[in-house]
Amino acid sequence: MSETIKQPLPVPAPSGLEHMRVMERAATYTNLAVCEMHERYGDVFAFGFGAIRFHWLVGADANQFILKDHPDKFRMGYDFLRPIGGKNALINSEDPQHIRLRRVVQPAFQKKRLDSIVAICEKHMDKCFETWQSGEEHNLYFELRHVVLDIICEALLGAETLERRPTLLKDILVMMNFANMPFLAQQFKINLPLLPWNKFLKARGRADDVLYKEIEARQNSSELKHDILAMLLEASDDDGNGLSDVEIRDQTISLVSAGFDTTSAGLAWCVFNLLDNPDTMMTLIEELGTIDDLSFDTVQQLPYLDAIVKESLRLYPPAPAGLREAKEDIIYDNYLIEKDSLVAFSIYATHRDERYFSEPLSFKPERWLKGHPEEDKPPTFAYVPFGSGARYCIGAGVATTLMKVSLITLLKQWKLSPAWQKPIVDRGNTVAPKGGLAVSVESSS
Ligand code: HEM
Repeated sequence: MSETIKQPLPVPAPSGLEHMRVMERAATYTNLAVCEMHERYGDVFAFGFGAIRFHWLVGADANQFILKDHPDKFRMGYDFLRPIGGKNALINSEDPQHIRLRRVVQPAFQKKRLDSIVAICEKHMDKCFETWQSGEEHNLYFELRHVVLDIICEALLGAETLERRPTLLKDILVMMNFANMPFLAQQFKINLPLLPWNKFLKARGRADDVLYKEIEARQNSSELKHDILAMLLEASDDDGNGLSDVEIRDQTISLVSAGFDTTSAGLAWCVFNLLDNPDTMMTLIEELGTIDDLSFDTVQQLPYLDAIVKESLRLYPPAPAGLREAKEDIIYDNYLIEKDSLVAFSIYATHRDERYFSEPLSFKPERWLKGHPEEDKPPTFAYVPFGSGARYCIGAGVATTLMKVSLITLLKQWKLSPAWQKPIVDRGNTVAPKGGLAVSVESSS
């Protein structure tokens, strides 16, 4: 019996006016546009043009194909982050450089580090609350962005460094604001006064200057420090070679930028979901009433808080897509993805897919509680807020600990109520609430 060989098909894509409409929507609401395209075309489709034409893959099978079964067919697709983190950032490095850097950097994220994150986090949240008064309105997302930046920078660089180098945080924010601009706008790198690229270059110049001075000061000092920068300065690979100054600079800046934007957005979505679901908020407050001391271990023993964080990262995954480039012609699901194409696996659309989650657009922490009647049992690759495999987020433990500790400190001291005027929608390369998150605050004491 002769077997018919199926010819791979070209990836489905909208054309003409429909394409223009998709592009217009995607410019601000990329993830919603991706979900609409998923509904119309299925798990594989493409849109965009030139340097921003992506081949989108959706679903647990696609994630498994890219992250577990065939990572070797892809290069990382985060060139837009290169101006910030340089060529030695983990996210932009390829094997064998990636394996070497990952081995050197990984120890800096062990459990010991998470213990110290709890104290740093509590300190900065309390500092933020010092200025709050009952009855006031606060844009929680914008304030949390600064607090989380302070926390991550202190964990990386130590409190004294930040006091000595006060401009660093401001410059990192300027750089991240550029990376959060729509991809199309980022293509226009025009170095004229007041334009975004010019502001970016100036901020990066100042930040690099500060960091190299700090690296040099540490190399010439015998004082013992316990932050991540100290660990990077001491670290060496299997051949006993340490990191160069440029590698240390690239790791430091890329870890801060990968960490604070995503984590502060994730935290803001937790608060939004709790305020949007008052019964869930009440159940959580009851659970938080059972703890009096705050340590890494106590934070791990709160199953409802854990379910809330998991569910929030499902519905609003701060990193909504993983980006790759095809190293060769790839056939997936009988579609041909040509060599050098940009490929994106949509974490956002997979997390909202009813094949894996019941009532996927509802916020239901119960779906994560073992033995609960509403428990969902999605396949492993249907839920990947931190990616998977060799590229699994190195800061996942830091991020979830920070989100949990911040929620505990916030909700134990303040009663919050929604103060937003318009419905909250998500936007951005990092999924964040458009316009922030306005809340009214009332002291609990
Ligand atoms: C809620 C917060 C966070 C989310 C949702 C998140 C999400 C992700 C995802 C999805 C990836 C995989 C990307 C891919 O495979 O294409 C990733 C990688 C990475 N993340 Fe995170 N992240 C978060 C927080 C952090 C923090 C706090 C840090 C560091 C302080 C960090 C550092 C990194 C780095 C360095 C990589 C690249 C790893 C590699 O290529 O080896 N992230 N993150």
